[in-house]
Amino acid sequence: MRRKLTIAFVGLVFVIGGWFLLFSASEGPTEAEMAQLRQRDANRRAASLEAERRSKTDLALLSEHGRGQELPDYLVSEIDREGNFWFVGKPDSAVGVQIPFAPGRLPLPPAETEPLNPNPGFLGAEACRDCHKDKYDSFIETAHHRTTRLALPNEVAGSFEEGSNRMATGDPNVIFTMKQRGNDLYQSVQFFDWGFEVPFHIIIGSSKMAESYLYWHGDQLFQMNCTHLTERDEWINSPGFIDGDAIYARPIRSGCLDCHVTYVDYRKSANHYTPKSMILGISCERCHGPGRQHVDYHVANPDVKEPKHMKVPSKLSRQAQMDVCGQCHTTKKAPINEQAFQFRPGDKLSDHYEMIDGKEESLNSVHTSNQVGRLSLSQCFQKSEMGCVECHDPHRNERGNLKLFSQRCLECHQQEHCGMKERLGDRLADNCIDCHMPVRASKNLQVETGEGNIFPPLRDHFIRVDQEATDELLNEKPN
Ligand code: HEC
Ligand code: HEC
Ligand code: HEC
Ligand code: HEC
Ligand code: HEC
Ligand code: HEC
Ligand code: HEC
Repeated sequence: MRRKLTIAFVGLVFVIGGWFLLFSASEGPTEAEMAQLRQRDANRRAASLEAERRSKTDLALLSEHGRGQELPDYLVSEIDREGNFWFVGKPDSAVGVQIPFAPGRLPLPPAETEPLNPNPGFLGAEACRDCHKDKYDSFIETAHHRTTRLALPNEVAGSFEEGSNRMATGDPNVIFTMKQRGNDLYQSVQFFDWGFEVPFHIIIGSSKMAESYLYWHGDQLFQMNCTHLTERDEWINSPGFIDGDAIYARPIRSGCLDCHVTYVDYRKSANHYTPKSMILGISCERCHGPGRQHVDYHVANPDVKEPKHMKVPSKLSRQAQMDVCGQCHTTKKAPINEQAFQFRPGDKLSDHYEMIDGKEESLNSVHTSNQVGRLSLSQCFQKSEMGCVECHDPHRNERGNLKLFSQRCLECHQQEHCGMKERLGDRLADNCIDCHMPVRASKNLQVETGEGNIFPPLRDHFIRVDQEATDELLNEKPN
């Protein structure tokens, strides 16, 4: 059993990283370790019983709907060495379940804890609405604002309707079904004849490519197994997850949230937070600095029109501007000493993050296509003072408007500079982008499905003559 499960989980080690190495290095526990494990297991079970007592309403529902069943005899469970996770599997089968709560129990609702470290003054975009209504109204439509939000039924893109609410895997004994009861949404897992349910709490991803989902277990946050892929309108395995396993124990560390929420109070040990301190979405303040002082000042001094206590990136050096966006759009490792949310506009990125120096699209362990590194390879960047705002207005959603982006190229270029002008005539100006900044399947994002792997596309910011992209485009739309 240990062997089989270890094999099944080893794959994840490479995808998810060092953290899981804990399991793969195992050579079987000693007698003393086993005793310790049993003791931890007993402690955990006691803790779960306590949790059960606390979430009575959920439990009533649970038995009513057949969730949280005790394990049948033919399934075995094993707790990991740190006492954090349960593996559930069949002795004769390689597929498995990973959950951070004991089999037969439920994830705990978000914990009611107090913040440990004071919030340095992040308020969220709502705090700017009254005085910057024009900016606010368009900003809330952007991918930044929408990148994390509460998983309410009208916000989740995927279907909960019978017929399209299932995700089959390559293994017939592992089936996922998306369920809705009132305003509560669940991923329901059927593993052989045993099952359990996990609630949706947070959506991560504006759904331009995909939405993934997170749930609270007390003060810990985990990624759910099923993600929704926008292009196919389908439920798929989360990127990096193994098809056929049911994985609900992938911890969400502060480095992940550093790029996808405005702020959250995090504890000393990894993946422990104060749930109610979390400010969802990337607000104005990740580019302008925490807003409390500014807001307090202008509320108290309504007649003052000179701005106080606020930074505007375009008034900083170009490198400092790139560093503002580089918090999330470049190759870097997790924040130094896990100190997320410490960067302020004007700071040097390398003071807060361990940098990976490189211009490849996929050097880091995450999935940005390294826009900062790629753009800086371009002649446009090297021979001008261009930054990101030459083409992007961070306060608007301009996605898909390739004609508008092409006009921004023409702020510096003339159509006649392009060798294709003669051939394409006036149509040239409709879309410089797909020829000079093509989208390509990204090595950063790999999704395993029952029918093979998918690599969602990202746009390359290395602006250059790309003959291949040109040929593709011309073949699609022949003259
Ligand atoms: C009580 C009113 C008020 C609130 C609330 C407010 N601001 Fe301002 N803000 C001002 C005033 C007044 C100015 C100066 C006039 C102007 O530029 O509009 C200003 C200017 C700015 C500037 C330009 C600074 C510069 O140097 O040019 C930025 C950026 C800014 N605010 C961001 C924010 C953000 C982010 C929030 C929310 C966290 C916010 N403001 C909330 C009143 C407010
Ligand atoms: C705190 C992290 C963070 C910072 C700082 C940040 N971004 Fe982003 N940005 C993201 C994330 C995450 C996404 C993807 C959101 C999604 O689709 O869920 C994104 C998406 C985008 C997009 C794609 C929008 C779309 O709909 O296609 C653009 C363009 C962009 N960012 C530009 C910038 C620029 C320019 C800056 C600096 C002025 C910047 N970002 C700063 C995290 C950040
Ligand atoms: C270094 C910053 C960074 C980290 C860390 C990061 N992301 Fe992202 N994420 C981005 C950016 C930027 C994008 C948009 C992709 C692009 O355009 O390059 C994105 C895109 C996404 C998307 C797709 C959004 C869409 O609208 O299609 C999902 C889902 C996502 N991230 C989830 C996660 C999860 C879960 C983690 C942690 C395990 C994580 N990200 C860690 C920056 C980051
Ligand atoms: C992704 C980074 C980013 C986010 C998020 C962002 N801004 Fe900005 N903001 C900038 C940059 C960069 C500039 C300078 C733009 C320029 O000069 O073209 C700017 C300029 C401004 C200005 C002053 C210049 C002007 O155009 O009037 C104000 C005021 C402002 N932002 C307010 C806000 C508010 C309010 C929000 C949230 C509702 C917000 N910003 C969100 C990056 C951002
Ligand atoms: C801020 C001004 C600016 C903007 C905006 C700009 N460029 Fe450029 N671009 C330049 C400069 C300067 C060069 C170098 C030209 C030279 O040396 O003659 C250049 C070079 C190029 C080259 C030649 C690259 C090579 O390797 O020879 C291409 C192709 C190009 N730009 C396309 C674009 C496209 C497409 C856009 C819009 C997506 C764009 N540019 C936006 C300033 C800009
Ligand atoms: C159908 C694809 C296509 C479109 C659309 C297109 N280009 Fe080009 N572009 C090319 C190719 C291919 C070349 C190299 C052609 C040559 O040198 O004969 C080129 C060359 C260039 C160059 C000169 C590069 C050099 O040799 O220094 C610039 C600048 C440029 N394009 C800018 C633009 C701008 C700006 C637009 C939009 C207004 C645009 N292009 C639209 C394919 C395209
Ligand atoms: C010369 C113009 C130009 C500059 C400069 C530029 N971008 Fe972009 N960017 C684009 C275009 C065009 C798109 C495609 C927009 C679309 O598909 O709707 C894009 C898309 C993006 C996306 C979405 C990625 C995806 O694959 O869908 C992100 C994130 C982004 N840019 C970030 C940045 C950042 C960060 C910078 C500065 C380092 C930057 N961009 C500078 C033109 C530019």
